[in-house]
Amino acid sequence: MNAPFEPPRRPTAAQLRLAEQCRDPGRVQPPPSIARLDTERYLSAERFAREKARLFGRMPLCLGPSAMIPTPGSAMTHDGFGVPLLLLRGKDGGLGIFLNSCRHRGTRLLDAPQPVQQPVIVCPYHAWAYALDGALKAIPRTETFPGVCREELGLVPVPFVEAGGLIWAAPFEATDFSLAAGPLAEDFAALGLDSMHLYARRTHEVRANWKLIMDAFLESYHVQRLHATSIARFFEDGVTSGDTIGPHGRSAVVRVGGLEGVDFADWAALRRVVTYAYQLLPATVLVASPDYVNLMVIMPRAHDATLVEDFMLIPAPPATDEEEAHWAKSWALLDGRVFGTEDFGAAEAGQRGLASGASPQILLGSLELGIARFHAAVDQLIEA
Ligand code: FES
Ligand SMILES: [Fe+2]
Repeated sequence: MNAPFEPPRRPTAAQLRLAEQCRDPGRVQPPPSIARLDTERYLSAERFAREKARLFGRMPLCLGPSAMIPTPGSAMTHDGFGVPLLLLRGKDGGLGIFLNSCRHRGTRLLDAPQPVQQPVIVCPYHAWAYALDGALKAIPRTETFPGVCREELGLVPVPFVEAGGLIWAAPFEATDFSLAAGPLAEDFAALGLDSMHLYARRTHEVRANWKLIMDAFLESYHVQRLHATSIARFFEDGVTSGDTIGPHGRSAVVRVGGLEGVDFADWAALRRVVTYAYQLLPATVLVASPDYVNLMVIMPRAHDATLVEDFMLIPAPPATDEEEAHWAKSWALLDGRVFGTEDFGAAEAGQRGLASGASPQILLGSLELGIARFHAAVDQLIEA
C-alpha cells in the first residue's frame, strides 16, 4: 500500500472556517428557496461569442498545474484557448510564456502538447534560434538582415503568474492576477499543490456548453443520484458549505463518517473527511480528494462544444507497482467514470435536452444555489 499522505502544510483560515460550518450547515445556510435560469444562456451562439470576448478575453485563464512542466530546460505548447502559447521553463526553473510564433515570418515554432527537454527553440523554417527566456539568439546568414536588431526580436511575452501550483495566463488583454497570486494560491499551497506530481492528464471532448460542465461541480445534489454506483458511498448527502473569493467559488463537502471526533488541528485527518472544491472563473474546477487532486481546465470551442483537460496530481511519483496500481485505480474511477462518463455525460444529455426547447427555464433547488451564484457572476462580468 502506498505511504499515507501527510500534507506538509496547515489549512488556511478560510478552509478551516468552511469545515467548521459543515458541523452545522443548517445554521449558515439560508432557508430553502428556488431559483430559475433562462436556458438561452446554454443555447445561444451570440451569447457564447460575448462570453469568449468579455470573460475568457479579459480574465486570467488557468492553463494547468505547474507540475505539467516541472523540469528546468523544457518547453511545451498550449492551444486550448485558441491562442498558440509556448511555455518555457528555464534552466533556473523560472517559467516564461510566449506566443508560439517566430519573429521572422511568423511560423509556429514548436508542437509539444507534452513537455520536451529543449535547450533552445529553433524555428523549423529558417532556423532562427531562441533561448528559453525568449531572447533571439541567432539568425543564420545574419549579414542578409542589415540593420536588424536581435534584441528587438525576442518572442512576444504573454502576461502570466505561476502561484500555488497553478499556471495562469492572460493571452488576450492585460489583466489582474491578484486573486490567482494571492488568496487562491494560499489555499492551493495549503493543499500541497505546488509540490505535487502530475500522475496523468487527458483531454475530453464534451458536446455541451461549458457552463453545463461547471454546473456539475457547483452542487452536491447529484452526488447520491448520478454517482449512485461510483462515488456516492464516500459522501454524506448534501452536507456542504461554501463561500466566494472574488467571483470564484470555494466549497467543502463532508465525506461519509462525518466530522464527529475529528481533530481540526490535524490537517491530514480533516482532509480525509472534507473534500474541498474550487470553481474558478471563468472555467476551471479543482477537487481535492484526501490524497490527490483533480484539476479540470475547461476550454470552450463553441456554444455546444467544449474541451476539458483533466489533470490528476499525487503527492509523489509512484515508487512501487502497488502504489502505481493504487493511483491507476483512482484515475480510472475519477477520470474514466465519475467525470468522463457520469458528469460529462450528464452535461451532454443536458445540452441535448435543453436544445429541444422543452423548457425556457431550468429550476434550481436549495442545494443548487451555487449554480445561480456562478451564473450571476458570469452575467455581471459579460455585461460590464
Ligand atoms: S519563419 Fe522562423 S526562421 Fe523564418
Ligand atoms: Fe459529479
